[in-house]
Amino acid sequence: MIPVKNAAEIVKMREAGKALKEVFGVVAPLIAPGLTTMELNAEIEKKISSLGATAPCKGYMGYPAAACISIDDVVVHGIPSLRRLAEGEIVSVDIVLKLNGYCADATRTYAVGKISEEKQRLIDVTRRCFYNGVAKLRAGARLGDAQSAIQMTAELAGYGVVRAMAGHGIGRSMHEDPSVENYGRPGTGVLLKAGMCLAVEPMITMGTWKVKIDDDGWTCRTTDGSPAAHYENTVLITSDGCEILTE
Ligand code: MF3
Ligand code: CO
Repeated sequence: MIPVKNAAEIVKMREAGKALKEVFGVVAPLIAPGLTTMELNAEIEKKISSLGATAPCKGYMGYPAAACISIDDVVVHGIPSLRRLAEGEIVSVDIVLKLNGYCADATRTYAVGKISEEKQRLIDVTRRCFYNGVAKLRAGARLGDAQSAIQMTAELAGYGVVRAMAGHGIGRSMHEDPSVENYGRPGTGVLLKAGMCLAVEPMITMGTWKVKIDDDGWTCRTTDGSPAAHYENTVLITSDGCEILTE
């Protein structure tokens, strides 16, 4: 069952999205060589609680932190640690927050200091995947229209589309129906309705689409060691398009 949010719920979804934007306002200026991912997570957690919100990731299936912080070949679910960011790396910061009962979910991939042109292009194309995908979202469209646009954008640029992880519906829970894959065929899949909320999150690699999970049970990396980028926002489907709630 795919929840359709009513007007009062949409107000709360917007408020959660706005709060999450404020959290990313704290993250961006901190990204620099030498910062540990645990220090970054602590600042994120502090900001989330100062907004009167909570971090649903913490404790979710035993996940130990508020944020997922994933460096270079780590695609998603990097666990904050004493690992320091280093010049030339790319780091994806994935944060979910819950405010007044409603969740918002977003991810940004940042450059640490100066990065290669290749990595910058990966980040840029991953953002473009998101925008080309959400450009297809509106009531009456099919989810596959957006999924296909994401896949085409990545593959035409020569990149891999991670298959093992997907976006999702979002609302009272951070994960609701439907699953939002980053590949698909136009005209197929869920028929979208105004009031549905989705976390759309292309996870794109410079090489293979294949991933493996570390022994910690979370850290998800590319099998070929190629770097990956991730761009995610929470969006609300409307009659004539969509509203991006987290940017
Ligand atoms: N933003 C991630 C997602 O969309 C959140 C994962 S939270 C974790 O699934 F607890 F599973 F790490
Ligand atoms: Co998500």
